[in-house]
Amino acid sequence: MNSKVDNQINELLQKMSIREKIGQLNMTVTPKTEAEFERTREKLRNGDVGSMILASSSTAGLDPQERVNTAMCNRVQKVAMEEGPHGIPLIYGRDVIHGHRTVYPVPLAIAAAFNDELVKKAYRYTAIEATSVGIHWTFAPMIDLCRDPRYGRIIEGPGEDPMVGRHMARAIVEGFQNGDVAQEDSMVTCPKHFIGYGASEGGRDYYRTEISDYSLYNYYLPAFREAIEAGSDTVMSSFNDINGDPVSGSRYYMTEILRDYLGFKGFVVSDWGAIAFLKRLGVTESESECAELGIHAGIEIDMCDDIYVRYLEKLIEEGKVSMETLDNAVRRVLEVKFKKNLFENPYCKMPEIDRTEHLKCARELASECMVLLKNEDNVLPLSKDKKIALLGPLVHEKRALLGSWCLEGKAEETPSFYEAMVEAVGKNHLITATDPTGLYDDSVRAMYQADVVVLALGESEKVTGEKRSLADISLPNYQIELIRKAKYSGKKVIGVFFCGRPIAMEGVADLLDAVLYAWHSGSEAAGAACDILFGETVPSGKTAITFPRNSGHIPMYYNATSNRYNGYFGNNSETSYEDSIAAPYYPFGYGLSYTEFAYSNMQSDCAEISVDDLKNGKKVKCSIDVSNVGEYEGKETIQLYIHDVAGTYMRPFRELKDYKKLLFKVGETKNITFELGYDELGYYMPDGAYVVEEGNIEVFIGPNCFAKDKIVLKVV
Ligand code: BGC
Repeated sequence: MNSKVDNQINELLQKMSIREKIGQLNMTVTPKTEAEFERTREKLRNGDVGSMILASSSTAGLDPQERVNTAMCNRVQKVAMEEGPHGIPLIYGRDVIHGHRTVYPVPLAIAAAFNDELVKKAYRYTAIEATSVGIHWTFAPMIDLCRDPRYGRIIEGPGEDPMVGRHMARAIVEGFQNGDVAQEDSMVTCPKHFIGYGASEGGRDYYRTEISDYSLYNYYLPAFREAIEAGSDTVMSSFNDINGDPVSGSRYYMTEILRDYLGFKGFVVSDWGAIAFLKRLGVTESESECAELGIHAGIEIDMCDDIYVRYLEKLIEEGKVSMETLDNAVRRVLEVKFKKNLFENPYCKMPEIDRTEHLKCARELASECMVLLKNEDNVLPLSKDKKIALLGPLVHEKRALLGSWCLEGKAEETPSFYEAMVEAVGKNHLITATDPTGLYDDSVRAMYQADVVVLALGESEKVTGEKRSLADISLPNYQIELIRKAKYSGKKVIGVFFCGRPIAMEGVADLLDAVLYAWHSGSEAAGAACDILFGETVPSGKTAITFPRNSGHIPMYYNATSNRYNGYFGNNSETSYEDSIAAPYYPFGYGLSYTEFAYSNMQSDCAEISVDDLKNGKKVKCSIDVSNVGEYEGKETIQLYIHDVAGTYMRPFRELKDYKKLLFKVGETKNITFELGYDELGYYMPDGAYVVEEGNIEVFIGPNCFAKDKIVLKVV
């Protein structure tokens, strides 16, 4: 902060009463009715509120939410500015998770695009739309590493890989912030949920986690470190405990790790009710103790609990919380309000937004994240003169395509798969059935009348997101039954899966000739899927999350420590299970194209490098030739993995360290070079110290985590 702002904050702190200071730490919901407005006005006059959430319940991602009432926001802000004790503006926050009115794919799908620039662009457009209705602050990016597809919230984050998490964190934060949050169309970001929430045991929401320090530093923290380095000004604390220590009451996690270790300087907001939740978690017996624990842990803003406004003043009187603690917390909140320029520019001017480019970007991102998982005998792309039986429960669906955590997107503006197919090939080429499940005779008749069967399968957004976990990730039986019937028709059968999470593909993909994993891909999901089916777009998505064979394999992730003899990479008799093949159904990084890529001639510019040289910034260049040997122009994501052969601690058999997504013309060969330096070749010890150790490091480059081309680098 510059000294002018420092002085302004000091002056404010001198003038403010204890009650008014505590008010800055209190977030409430925005009023909707006149009666609520009057009650809020009273609170604002007393200085009891510092921020507002634009949501009507704690599970905004599930319930239909009212649209933002910008006129009301401006009215309330006017009260804060003109009738509040010191003219301190409110900051308005909302869960803007994967788009606003234009909805982009759910974040787990976005990660599969492996296209940071496109992701950044999508979030830039998102910020432009969201700020146009008065939202200053987004509760995003959600960057919880997660290995359990049963967990409903897996769809909100980047998946199982810390490096993908870092890339997503940076792209999203940079997109929202646009280099300067003071701009009217930039948003303050809030990486969440700090920390470990994605590790909820059994995929149950709001549940316990066991995370060793080694895992914390190597897997869970990197994305947050990246978001903070990219300039995030706020962080949200999580509901879970780690090893019995509830994070939202933990000074260790919220101050020692977040501030002292990661260098975070902004303010922390609790998750909705997470401070009061400490009592339910059994570490306090009263709400007053919750408030004491929360503020001492380092949570500045209490989201919708009223716990700070009810108890902090007394705790200060009793000497249990110091004025210094309170002042520091208020200072951090005010700093962000100044940084967002809210004192100068508190009101929303409601600019008109032209969404043409935003929708184009939604189509492009949806196309790039869809993953072609199977394409036997090159059944895809389809030619447009075929008669297509178009069946399945998601044929006419609109809302599910938008995914969970879609507060502003409109189902009625979203083309269904049927509508997009009509647009692509015309009604005359489509044969549909009247029953939604496709199980009755007219669906069977449709299959026999057609040249090819396209099934729209998947899951509702209602079984994904917050509080929406599943015990079993299998496709529901009635959908499997439909696939079987289609298979028995003897026609080629293509499954298009509109899902949030990976589902168990064993016994499903085997029955299909082609599998396009279309995810819950937002406003343009259906159109993008059609573009791929008919070859207008060549698929290029690669899954950023493992597809386990069945629920019993969970958790299954590619970067587990030394799993080369058992499971994922195992290729011998010591398999994990007697009743199942050990390998994943589709591995991390996997995805097909209509064209084919050949990898050859992997090299490095040195075989040996010293730790000192690495520390001094020297890098090793690793290169490979990639050729498009197929018949289509297409994009490939070239992935570089390492394996530290012998570490002081066991290292993963493969760790993604970098990737490049590039377009290749037919017949084109490109020499792709990656650089590996100090930051790529080491790892974190359980005490958080980063080390690069001497020894051999295998470097792999290829199309997925089973990359075969390899060189060995010796670190001395
Ligand atoms: C969720 C958060 C969200 C908050 C506000 C909570 O229930 O866990 O992710 O940001 O509500 O809507």
